[in-house]
Amino acid sequence: MAVFQLPNLSPEILLRFSPTPLDFINRRRINFFRPLSAIGDSQSVAPDSESRNRMFILGMGFVGGFFAQQLKEANWVVSGTCRSDPKKKEWEKRGINLHPFSADSPEWSLLLDSVKDYTHLLISIPPLADIGDPMLRNVELLRGKLSSGNLRWLCYLSSTSVYGDCGGAWVDENHPPNPKTQSAKVRLAAEEGWLSLGRDLGVSTQILRLGGIYGPGRSAIDTLLKQERLSEGQKRRASRKFTSRVHVEDICQVLQASTEKPSSGEIYNVVDDDPAPREEVFEYALELIAKRWPEIINTKPFPFLYESREESSLRGEKRVRNEHMKNKLGVKLIYPSYKSGLQSIVENMDNPF
Ligand SMILES: NC(=O)c1ccc[n+]([C@@H]2O[C@H](COP(=O)([O-])OP(=O)(O)OC[C@H]3O[C@@H](n4cnc5c(N)ncnc54)[C@H](OP(=O)(O)O)[C@@H]3O)[C@@H](O)[C@H]2O)c1
Repeated sequence: MAVFQLPNLSPEILLRFSPTPLDFINRRRINFFRPLSAIGDSQSVAPDSESRNRMFILGMGFVGGFFAQQLKEANWVVSGTCRSDPKKKEWEKRGINLHPFSADSPEWSLLLDSVKDYTHLLISIPPLADIGDPMLRNVELLRGKLSSGNLRWLCYLSSTSVYGDCGGAWVDENHPPNPKTQSAKVRLAAEEGWLSLGRDLGVSTQILRLGGIYGPGRSAIDTLLKQERLSEGQKRRASRKFTSRVHVEDICQVLQASTEKPSSGEIYNVVDDDPAPREEVFEYALELIAKRWPEIINTKPFPFLYESREESSLRGEKRVRNEHMKNKLGVKLIYPSYKSGLQSIVENMDNPF
Protein backbone atom coordinates (compact mmCIF):
# COMPACT_ATOMS: atom_id res chain seq x y z
CA MET A 1 0.00 0.00 0.00
CA ALA A 2 1.39 3.39 -0.97
CA VAL A 3 1.06 6.14 1.62
CA PHE A 4 0.96 9.81 0.73
CA GLN A 5 1.82 12.64 3.08
CA LEU A 6 -0.85 15.28 2.98
CA PRO A 7 -0.92 18.84 4.19
CA ASN A 8 -2.86 18.88 7.43
CA LEU A 9 -4.98 22.01 7.35
CA SER A 10 -6.92 23.60 10.16
CA PRO A 11 -10.73 23.70 9.85
CA GLU A 12 -10.58 27.52 9.53
CA ILE A 13 -8.26 27.24 6.56
CA LEU A 14 -10.42 24.59 4.98
CA LEU A 15 -13.51 26.74 5.41
CA ARG A 16 -11.81 29.57 3.57
CA PHE A 17 -10.81 27.19 0.81
CA SER A 18 -14.06 25.97 -0.56
CA PRO A 19 -14.19 27.41 -4.06
CA THR A 20 -16.46 26.18 -6.81
CA PRO A 21 -15.37 25.90 -10.45
CA LEU A 22 -17.39 29.04 -11.06
CA ASP A 23 -15.24 30.94 -8.54
CA PHE A 24 -12.20 29.96 -10.54
CA ILE A 25 -13.79 31.06 -13.77
CA ASN A 26 -14.52 34.37 -12.10
CA ARG A 27 -10.96 34.84 -10.89
CA ARG A 28 -8.96 33.56 -13.81
CA ARG A 29 -11.18 34.64 -16.61
CA ILE A 30 -12.30 37.91 -15.20
CA ASN A 31 -11.74 39.48 -18.63
CA PHE A 32 -14.36 37.08 -19.96
CA PHE A 33 -17.09 39.06 -18.29
CA ARG A 34 -18.53 42.25 -19.50
CA PRO A 35 -19.97 44.47 -16.74
CA LEU A 36 -23.34 43.10 -15.69
CA SER A 37 -25.03 46.30 -16.82
CA ALA A 38 -23.87 45.56 -20.38
CA ILE A 39 -25.49 42.14 -20.39
CA GLY A 40 -29.17 41.67 -21.07
CA ASP A 41 -31.02 39.82 -18.35
CA SER A 42 -32.13 37.12 -20.70
CA GLN A 43 -30.26 34.97 -23.17
CA SER A 44 -33.34 33.70 -24.94
CA VAL A 45 -32.89 33.99 -28.68
CA ALA A 46 -33.99 37.50 -29.56
CA PRO A 47 -34.49 38.60 -33.20
CA ASP A 48 -31.25 40.64 -33.13
CA SER A 49 -29.37 37.44 -32.20
CA GLU A 50 -30.49 35.55 -35.25
CA SER A 51 -27.34 36.22 -37.24
CA ARG A 52 -25.09 35.11 -34.36
CA ASN A 53 -23.89 31.60 -33.53
CA ARG A 54 -25.98 30.13 -30.75
CA MET A 55 -24.85 27.28 -28.47
CA PHE A 56 -27.18 25.28 -26.27
CA ILE A 57 -25.44 23.15 -23.63
CA LEU A 58 -27.44 20.21 -22.33
CA GLY A 59 -25.92 19.83 -18.83
CA MET A 60 -24.05 23.00 -17.81
CA GLY A 61 -21.49 21.18 -15.66
CA PHE A 62 -17.73 21.59 -15.35
CA VAL A 63 -16.82 21.48 -19.06
CA GLY A 64 -20.05 23.12 -20.16
CA GLY A 65 -19.45 26.00 -17.74
CA PHE A 66 -15.95 26.75 -18.94
CA PHE A 67 -16.97 26.47 -22.56
CA ALA A 68 -20.00 28.71 -22.07
CA GLN A 69 -17.78 31.48 -20.71
CA GLN A 70 -15.38 31.14 -23.61
CA LEU A 71 -18.19 31.35 -26.15
CA LYS A 72 -19.79 34.30 -24.47
CA GLU A 73 -16.50 36.16 -24.69
CA ALA A 74 -16.51 35.39 -28.40
CA ASN A 75 -19.98 36.96 -28.69
CA TRP A 76 -21.99 33.74 -29.04
CA VAL A 77 -25.48 33.50 -27.65
CA VAL A 78 -25.24 30.78 -24.98
CA SER A 79 -27.78 28.91 -22.93
CA GLY A 80 -28.19 25.46 -21.44
CA THR A 81 -29.67 23.42 -18.64
CA CYS A 82 -29.07 22.72 -14.98
CA ARG A 83 -31.07 20.97 -12.30
CA SER A 84 -30.85 23.33 -9.34
CA ASP A 85 -32.20 26.78 -8.65
CA PRO A 86 -29.06 28.11 -6.86
CA LYS A 87 -26.96 27.14 -9.88
CA LYS A 88 -29.39 28.83 -12.23
CA LYS A 89 -29.22 32.01 -10.13
CA GLU A 90 -25.42 31.91 -10.04
CA TRP A 91 -25.26 31.74 -13.83
CA GLU A 92 -27.87 34.47 -14.24
CA LYS A 93 -25.52 36.84 -12.46
CA ARG A 94 -23.03 36.10 -15.24
CA GLY A 95 -25.55 36.84 -17.93
CA ILE A 96 -26.32 33.27 -18.90
CA ASN A 97 -29.88 32.12 -18.57
CA LEU A 98 -30.20 28.39 -17.90
CA HIS A 99 -33.32 26.29 -18.27
CA PRO A 100 -34.11 24.16 -15.21
CA PHE A 101 -34.28 20.68 -16.70
CA SER A 102 -34.01 17.13 -15.50
CA ALA A 103 -34.17 14.34 -18.06
CA ASP A 104 -36.47 12.54 -15.61
CA SER A 105 -39.09 15.30 -15.68
CA PRO A 106 -41.86 15.62 -18.27
CA GLU A 107 -40.89 19.12 -19.56
CA TRP A 108 -39.13 17.89 -22.65
CA SER A 109 -41.33 19.39 -25.28
CA LEU A 110 -41.01 22.87 -23.83
CA LEU A 111 -37.24 22.59 -23.56
CA LEU A 112 -36.83 21.34 -27.12
CA ASP A 113 -38.93 24.22 -28.44
CA SER A 114 -36.16 26.47 -27.09
CA VAL A 115 -33.27 24.26 -28.19
CA LYS A 116 -34.37 24.26 -31.82
CA ASP A 117 -33.69 27.98 -32.12
CA TYR A 118 -30.00 27.32 -31.49
CA THR A 119 -27.43 26.62 -34.20
CA HIS A 120 -25.18 24.40 -32.04
CA LEU A 121 -25.93 21.73 -29.43
CA LEU A 122 -23.43 20.30 -26.93
CA ILE A 123 -24.54 17.22 -25.00
CA SER A 124 -22.82 16.89 -21.64
CA ILE A 125 -25.40 14.87 -19.68
CA PRO A 126 -23.86 11.48 -18.82
CA PRO A 127 -25.67 8.20 -19.42
CA LEU A 128 -26.99 6.17 -16.50
CA ALA A 129 -25.84 2.57 -16.11
CA ASP A 130 -29.41 1.22 -15.89
CA ILE A 131 -31.26 3.23 -18.53
CA GLY A 132 -28.51 4.50 -20.84
CA ASP A 133 -28.57 8.03 -22.25
CA PRO A 134 -31.53 9.76 -20.58
CA MET A 135 -32.02 12.11 -23.54
CA LEU A 136 -32.07 9.39 -26.17
CA ARG A 137 -34.98 7.71 -24.41
CA ASN A 138 -37.08 10.28 -26.26
CA VAL A 139 -35.19 10.13 -29.53
CA GLU A 140 -38.34 10.41 -31.65
CA LEU A 141 -39.34 13.63 -29.92
CA LEU A 142 -35.78 14.96 -30.31
CA ARG A 143 -35.77 14.09 -34.01
CA GLY A 144 -39.18 15.63 -34.57
CA LYS A 145 -38.46 18.90 -32.76
CA LEU A 146 -34.90 19.44 -33.94
CA SER A 147 -35.53 18.63 -37.59
CA SER A 148 -37.55 21.82 -38.01
CA GLY A 149 -35.07 24.10 -36.27
CA ASN A 150 -31.81 25.94 -36.91
CA LEU A 151 -29.41 23.25 -35.67
CA ARG A 152 -26.33 22.70 -37.81
CA TRP A 153 -23.72 21.31 -35.36
CA LEU A 154 -23.99 18.71 -32.61
CA CYS A 155 -21.32 17.37 -30.28
CA TYR A 156 -21.53 14.57 -27.74
CA LEU A 157 -19.05 14.44 -24.83
CA SER A 158 -18.06 10.81 -24.42
CA SER A 159 -15.28 8.99 -22.63
CA THR A 160 -12.16 6.94 -23.45
CA SER A 161 -13.71 4.22 -21.27
CA VAL A 162 -15.38 2.86 -24.42
CA TYR A 163 -12.08 1.23 -25.47
CA GLY A 164 -12.11 -1.15 -22.49
CA ASP A 165 -8.92 -2.96 -21.59
CA CYS A 166 -6.12 -2.82 -24.16
CA GLY A 167 -3.34 -4.23 -22.00
CA GLY A 168 -1.56 -0.87 -21.87
CA ALA A 169 -1.30 -0.55 -25.68
CA TRP A 170 -1.59 2.78 -27.47
CA VAL A 171 -5.07 3.14 -29.00
CA ASP A 172 -6.39 5.60 -31.57
CA GLU A 173 -9.91 6.20 -32.84
CA ASN A 174 -9.66 3.22 -35.23
CA HIS A 175 -9.23 0.80 -32.34
CA PRO A 176 -12.49 -1.17 -31.99
CA PRO A 177 -14.30 -0.19 -28.79
CA ASN A 178 -14.66 -3.06 -26.35
CA PRO A 179 -16.35 -1.70 -23.23
CA LYS A 180 -16.39 -4.02 -20.24
CA THR A 181 -18.20 -2.10 -17.51
CA GLN A 182 -21.90 -1.31 -17.73
CA SER A 183 -21.21 2.43 -17.66
CA ALA A 184 -18.78 2.11 -20.60
CA LYS A 185 -21.29 -0.01 -22.52
CA VAL A 186 -24.05 2.57 -22.18
CA ARG A 187 -21.53 5.29 -23.11
CA LEU A 188 -20.80 3.54 -26.39
CA ALA A 189 -24.52 3.07 -27.06
CA ALA A 190 -25.01 6.81 -26.41
CA GLU A 191 -22.28 7.67 -28.94
CA GLU A 192 -24.02 5.52 -31.54
CA GLY A 193 -27.41 7.05 -30.72
CA TRP A 194 -26.20 10.66 -31.11
CA LEU A 195 -24.28 9.86 -34.30
CA SER A 196 -27.37 8.29 -35.77
CA LEU A 197 -29.60 11.21 -34.72
CA GLY A 198 -27.09 13.68 -36.19
CA ARG A 199 -27.13 11.77 -39.48
CA ASP A 200 -30.94 11.74 -39.57
CA LEU A 201 -31.05 15.47 -38.91
CA GLY A 202 -28.37 16.14 -41.51
CA VAL A 203 -26.26 18.19 -39.10
CA SER A 204 -22.52 18.12 -38.48
CA THR A 205 -21.94 15.63 -35.67
CA GLN A 206 -18.83 14.95 -33.60
CA ILE A 207 -17.98 12.76 -30.66
CA LEU A 208 -15.25 13.75 -28.21
CA ARG A 209 -13.84 10.84 -26.19
CA LEU A 210 -12.49 12.63 -23.13
CA GLY A 211 -9.85 11.37 -20.74
CA GLY A 212 -10.11 12.17 -17.01
CA ILE A 213 -11.09 15.84 -16.83
CA TYR A 214 -9.23 18.22 -14.54
CA GLY A 215 -8.87 21.97 -14.23
CA PRO A 216 -9.17 24.84 -11.77
CA GLY A 217 -11.36 23.69 -8.88
CA ARG A 218 -11.15 20.03 -9.85
CA SER A 219 -7.66 18.55 -9.70
CA ALA A 220 -5.22 16.61 -7.53
CA ILE A 221 -4.19 19.98 -6.03
CA ASP A 222 -7.77 20.66 -4.95
CA THR A 223 -8.23 17.14 -3.60
CA LEU A 224 -5.10 17.49 -1.47
CA LEU A 225 -5.82 21.01 -0.25
CA LYS A 226 -9.41 20.25 0.58
CA GLN A 227 -8.38 16.92 2.03
CA GLU A 228 -11.20 15.33 0.14
CA ARG A 229 -11.57 11.66 0.72
CA LEU A 230 -10.85 9.59 -2.35
CA SER A 231 -13.52 7.07 -3.19
CA GLU A 232 -12.45 3.44 -3.12
CA GLY A 233 -12.61 3.47 -6.94
CA GLN A 234 -10.30 6.50 -7.14
CA LYS A 235 -7.84 4.92 -4.73
CA ARG A 236 -7.75 1.79 -6.82
CA ARG A 237 -7.34 3.71 -10.06
CA ALA A 238 -4.24 5.25 -8.48
CA SER A 239 -2.40 2.02 -9.03
CA ARG A 240 -3.13 1.92 -12.75
CA LYS A 241 -0.07 2.37 -14.89
CA PHE A 242 -1.78 4.66 -17.37
CA THR A 243 -4.54 7.18 -16.94
CA SER A 244 -5.34 9.52 -19.78
CA ARG A 245 -6.41 12.94 -18.68
CA VAL A 246 -7.09 16.34 -20.18
CA HIS A 247 -7.26 19.90 -18.89
CA VAL A 248 -10.64 21.60 -19.27
CA GLU A 249 -9.09 24.50 -21.24
CA ASP A 250 -7.83 22.02 -23.82
CA ILE A 251 -11.28 20.46 -24.10
CA CYS A 252 -12.65 23.94 -24.77
CA GLN A 253 -9.98 24.45 -27.44
CA VAL A 254 -11.04 21.25 -29.17
CA LEU A 255 -14.70 22.19 -28.95
CA GLN A 256 -13.99 25.61 -30.41
CA ALA A 257 -11.89 24.09 -33.21
CA SER A 258 -14.61 21.59 -34.04
CA THR A 259 -17.15 24.39 -34.48
CA GLU A 260 -14.74 25.95 -36.97
CA LYS A 261 -14.08 22.65 -38.77
CA PRO A 262 -17.36 20.78 -38.43
CA SER A 263 -17.35 17.13 -39.39
CA SER A 264 -19.94 14.53 -40.22
CA GLY A 265 -19.56 11.76 -37.74
CA GLU A 266 -15.95 12.30 -36.71
CA ILE A 267 -14.71 10.81 -33.42
CA TYR A 268 -11.82 12.49 -31.58
CA ASN A 269 -9.85 11.27 -28.59
CA VAL A 270 -9.30 14.31 -26.38
CA VAL A 271 -6.43 13.58 -24.00
CA ASP A 272 -3.01 15.03 -23.27
CA ASP A 273 0.34 13.52 -24.32
CA ASP A 274 1.21 12.02 -20.97
CA PRO A 275 -0.93 9.11 -19.67
CA ALA A 276 0.72 8.95 -16.24
CA PRO A 277 -0.38 6.94 -13.19
CA ARG A 278 -2.60 8.77 -10.73
CA GLU A 279 -0.17 8.10 -7.92
CA GLU A 280 2.58 9.98 -9.80
CA VAL A 281 0.20 12.89 -10.36
CA PHE A 282 -0.57 13.13 -6.65
CA GLU A 283 3.14 13.05 -5.79
CA TYR A 284 3.74 15.94 -8.16
CA ALA A 285 0.73 17.88 -6.84
CA LEU A 286 2.07 17.51 -3.32
CA GLU A 287 5.48 18.80 -4.42
CA LEU A 288 3.85 21.87 -5.97
CA ILE A 289 1.84 22.56 -2.82
CA ALA A 290 4.94 22.15 -0.65
CA LYS A 291 6.86 24.60 -2.85
CA ARG A 292 4.13 27.21 -2.97
CA TRP A 293 3.03 27.02 0.68
CA PRO A 294 5.94 25.37 2.57
CA GLU A 295 4.64 26.63 5.91
CA ILE A 296 1.47 24.54 5.80
CA ILE A 297 2.93 21.12 5.29
CA ASN A 298 2.23 18.86 8.18
CA THR A 299 1.59 15.29 7.33
CA LYS A 300 -1.23 12.83 7.28
CA PRO A 301 -1.34 9.41 5.68
CA PHE A 302 -3.23 9.11 2.40
CA PRO A 303 -3.41 5.47 1.43
CA PHE A 304 -3.84 4.12 -2.05
CA LEU A 305 -5.00 0.55 -2.54
CA TYR A 306 -3.99 -1.72 -5.34
CA GLU A 307 -6.61 -3.32 -7.51
CA SER A 308 -6.64 -6.97 -8.43
CA ARG A 309 -5.68 -8.08 -11.94
CA GLU A 310 -9.38 -8.75 -12.60
CA GLU A 311 -10.50 -5.29 -11.49
CA SER A 312 -7.71 -3.69 -13.46
CA SER A 313 -8.66 -5.41 -16.69
CA LEU A 314 -12.32 -4.50 -16.18
CA ARG A 315 -11.38 -0.83 -15.88
CA GLY A 316 -8.93 -1.08 -18.72
CA GLU A 317 -5.25 -0.29 -19.14
CA LYS A 318 -4.56 1.75 -22.26
CA ARG A 319 -2.69 4.75 -23.53
CA VAL A 320 -4.88 6.93 -25.67
CA ARG A 321 -3.53 8.64 -28.77
CA ASN A 322 -4.47 12.22 -29.64
CA GLU A 323 -2.88 12.77 -33.07
CA HIS A 324 -6.24 12.84 -34.85
CA MET A 325 -7.47 15.87 -32.92
CA LYS A 326 -4.13 17.61 -33.50
CA ASN A 327 -3.91 16.85 -37.21
CA LYS A 328 -7.54 17.27 -38.23
CA LEU A 329 -8.50 20.16 -35.96
CA GLY A 330 -5.10 21.84 -35.72
CA VAL A 331 -5.20 21.85 -31.93
CA LYS A 332 -1.96 22.54 -30.06
CA LEU A 333 -2.40 21.48 -26.46
CA ILE A 334 -1.98 24.23 -23.87
CA TYR A 335 -1.26 21.56 -21.25
CA PRO A 336 0.42 18.55 -22.93
CA SER A 337 1.17 17.00 -19.54
CA TYR A 338 -0.43 16.98 -16.09
CA LYS A 339 2.72 18.78 -14.92
CA SER A 340 2.08 22.02 -16.82
CA GLY A 341 -1.65 21.72 -16.07
CA LEU A 342 -1.14 21.43 -12.31
CA GLN A 343 1.52 24.13 -12.30
CA SER A 344 -0.87 26.56 -13.89
CA ILE A 345 -3.58 25.64 -11.38
CA VAL A 346 -1.26 26.32 -8.43
CA GLU A 347 0.12 29.53 -9.94
CA ASN A 348 -3.35 30.94 -10.54
CA MET A 349 -4.76 29.91 -7.19
CA ASP A 350 -5.38 32.67 -4.69
CA ASN A 351 -3.70 31.98 -1.38
CA PRO A 352 -6.34 29.96 0.44
CA PHE A 353 -4.85 30.61 3.86
N1 LIG B 1 -15.19 13.64 -15.12
C1 LIG B 1 -14.42 13.00 -15.96
O1 LIG B 1 -13.23 12.78 -15.72
C2 LIG B 1 -14.99 12.55 -17.31
C3 LIG B 1 -14.19 11.81 -18.18
C4 LIG B 1 -14.71 11.47 -19.44
C5 LIG B 1 -16.00 11.85 -19.79
N2 LIG B 1 -16.78 12.55 -18.90
C6 LIG B 1 -18.12 12.96 -19.33
O2 LIG B 1 -18.01 14.21 -20.01
C7 LIG B 1 -19.21 14.98 -19.80
C8 LIG B 1 -18.84 16.33 -19.20
O3 LIG B 1 -18.13 16.10 -17.99
P1 LIG B 1 -18.25 17.12 -16.77
O4 LIG B 1 -17.20 16.73 -15.81
O5 LIG B 1 -18.34 18.52 -17.28
O6 LIG B 1 -19.67 16.69 -16.19
P2 LIG B 1 -20.46 17.32 -14.95
O7 LIG B 1 -19.71 18.46 -14.36
O8 LIG B 1 -20.84 16.20 -14.06
O9 LIG B 1 -21.77 17.90 -15.68
C9 LIG B 1 -22.81 17.06 -16.10
C10 LIG B 1 -24.04 17.91 -16.36
O10 LIG B 1 -25.12 17.03 -16.68
C11 LIG B 1 -26.25 17.38 -15.91
N3 LIG B 1 -27.06 16.17 -15.66
C12 LIG B 1 -26.67 14.99 -15.14
N4 LIG B 1 -27.70 14.12 -15.11
C13 LIG B 1 -28.77 14.76 -15.60
C14 LIG B 1 -30.13 14.42 -15.83
N5 LIG B 1 -30.63 13.21 -15.51
N6 LIG B 1 -30.96 15.35 -16.37
C15 LIG B 1 -30.50 16.58 -16.68
N7 LIG B 1 -29.22 16.98 -16.49
C16 LIG B 1 -28.37 16.08 -15.96
C17 LIG B 1 -25.70 17.97 -14.62
O11 LIG B 1 -26.69 18.81 -14.07
P3 LIG B 1 -26.46 19.66 -12.72
O12 LIG B 1 -25.61 20.80 -13.14
O13 LIG B 1 -27.80 20.09 -12.31
O14 LIG B 1 -25.81 18.69 -11.77
C18 LIG B 1 -24.49 18.74 -15.15
O15 LIG B 1 -24.86 20.01 -15.58
C19 LIG B 1 -20.11 14.13 -18.91
O16 LIG B 1 -20.97 13.36 -19.70
C20 LIG B 1 -19.12 13.22 -18.21
O17 LIG B 1 -19.71 12.02 -17.76
C21 LIG B 1 -16.29 12.90 -17.67
